[in-house]
Amino acid sequence: MTISSAPGKIILFGEHAVVYGRPALAVPVTQVHAEVEVTDASRAGIWIDAPDVNLHAELMRLPSDHPIAAAIHNLFFQFHISPFPNLEIRISSTIPVASGMGSGAAVTVALTRALASHLSCSMSDEEVNAFTYEIEKLHHGTPSGIDNTVVTYARPVYFVRDQPIETFSVGQPFTIVIADTGIPAPTRESVADVRKLFESDEKYWDNVFDEMGDISFAARHVIREGWLRMLGSLMDENHAYLQELTVSSPELDRLVEAARGAGALGAKLSGGGRGGNMIALVEPEMAETISAALKAAGAQNTIITQII
Ligand code: MEV
Repeated sequence: MTISSAPGKIILFGEHAVVYGRPALAVPVTQVHAEVEVTDASRAGIWIDAPDVNLHAELMRLPSDHPIAAAIHNLFFQFHISPFPNLEIRISSTIPVASGMGSGAAVTVALTRALASHLSCSMSDEEVNAFTYEIEKLHHGTPSGIDNTVVTYARPVYFVRDQPIETFSVGQPFTIVIADTGIPAPTRESVADVRKLFESDEKYWDNVFDEMGDISFAARHVIREGWLRMLGSLMDENHAYLQELTVSSPELDRLVEAARGAGALGAKLSGGGRGGNMIALVEPEMAETISAALKAAGAQNTIITQII
């Protein structure tokens, strides 16, 4: 039996602008993870069992563009695996689906590593990352690559599209409360809508993306120095730009306001928006209070995580 797991992630700064080449910061969230278990099967076929998404099927019964089927087919193709072995693949995940926490990327990374290892195919992190990026395109259309990168390397990343991976250091650990609206984040749709907005006035939106990129650049410095109040202000500023990009929603705004009202140092949506998660920067001793305020304001679930 071979087991592999991959963490969830949150974007701290720069979502959407990152699609247009501006920097973004993302960190793994290890409280949640996807896990894949591969065993040799005693029956013919490749049997996939993913109870969290109610998927129980033999590979050949899945459409070829299903992300899980595509990952398996692509991997077998890449490593010239023929005939297909008989396998049982069990996929489980505690990462909320469509919440902006990288559940799709985490499943693909864990699946790729578990299958590659079970079949004695060697894959570097770079290869797993590039492979997962191709599968991410099936989920999200035109992803920047930030999700697969942070999930593959499981380290904080300062990400610029098509640039070598840079990590960032944290001067003073800080606490983030993640709150889920419970509404699926339609990332493919919000990315496409931002594209339409951009095309309606490229000069204007290029300036906005520049400002958002400057926020990510400043945030990296502020995180390195451990200036938490300034970090909170940068989150608030970033959220205002995301509102202007039309990717916030009344539910996200309500949670952002609730977090600030309860004493958060700053708050913003995280990921594709229009649903999914928001994040709040909090003093550690305030984390439980702010988490309770977020639940009272409609959050379906909260996670308190330390960024170190
Ligand atoms: C999604 O987690 C982040 C977006 O910036 C899209 C992307 O980077 O692919 C909205």
